[in-house]
Amino acid sequence: MSVLLKTKEQFQQNIITTFETYAEAPVSQAVRRVVLVTGGTGGIGSAICKKMAQQGHIVATTYRNEEKAFAWAEEMKKQGFTFHLYKCDVASFEDSQKMVKAVVQDLGPLQILVNNAGITRDSTLRKMTIDQWRDVISSDLDSVFNVTRSAIDYMLETGFGRIINISSINGQKGQFGQSNYAAAKAGMHGFTKALAQEVAKKGITVNTVSPGYIETDMIGAVPENIRNNIVAQIPVGRFGKPEDVAHVVSFLISEESGFITGANIASNGGHFME
Ligand SMILES: NC(=O)c1ccc[n+]([C@@H]2O[C@H](COP(=O)([O-])OP(=O)(O)OC[C@H]3O[C@@H](n4cnc5c(N)ncnc54)[C@H](OP(=O)(O)O)[C@@H]3O)[C@@H](O)[C@H]2O)c1
Repeated sequence: MSVLLKTKEQFQQNIITTFETYAEAPVSQAVRRVVLVTGGTGGIGSAICKKMAQQGHIVATTYRNEEKAFAWAEEMKKQGFTFHLYKCDVASFEDSQKMVKAVVQDLGPLQILVNNAGITRDSTLRKMTIDQWRDVISSDLDSVFNVTRSAIDYMLETGFGRIINISSINGQKGQFGQSNYAAAKAGMHGFTKALAQEVAKKGITVNTVSPGYIETDMIGAVPENIRNNIVAQIPVGRFGKPEDVAHVVSFLISEESGFITGANIASNGGHFME
């Protein structure tokens, strides 16, 4: 196994930085495709990136926080994964266009896109600032337009595409203190359904995955009594794992899933059923 890793200084100097590690991942899928996962350095994104790499795909991901991305890349390298990192604020259309162009130039035709990047800025509506509203709408919903709009022509050119939008249980049922987040996440599925119809005859599927409460750092920071209250509402009796979400993504990107489009697949342990 050979490893080619930029220094921290090199990493910080570039505007769009390609960060490469080379390792051997087990290949289990015949067709090797270029996959872009936004927000891969987070809890769920990491599991999706790993799953895609384990299936033999070439995986690109984005980040904003350089320190975090550097540490993440080091950790992934230790675990033997090959990822290509691009600095990009997906809330910016210009940044997203540049990033997608760089991915295609570096890695080849982009055929699988997982819109996973997202943030929360919780507050009841009466206390919510316009910045809290705009930050969530731009990082969680505008980003889906920004990156998908930048990528769609490449998928159309090759006649194959898989677009997965990572929404949330709270986009389906709403949640106290999350009018911004619930609006963005519900809007994401409206986008899914409209685009699915536009590209259905072109070999491209568009689907939403709506995770329930997933055991990430965010959930880990919640006090134990509140965690216990949440778990009591989940019929399977546990929080989800990032791998539970990655599994659904891996199912949706497969060749065999070409008949599934415009769907919203919940991975929530039965916490909310439609
Ligand atoms: N965790 C849960 O229980 C849960 C449940 C339902 C849905 N979800 C959804 O699943 C997705 C991943 O969640 P997570 O828990 O893994 O979150 P996380 O650990 O906080 O990771 C979020 C990722 O998104 C990136 N990101 C956020 N805004 C960005 C922007 N404007 N431009 C570029 N990158 C940006 C972050 O990068 P930087 O740190 O570099 O900014 C980070 O890599 C989110 O869309 C979230 O809403 C999560």
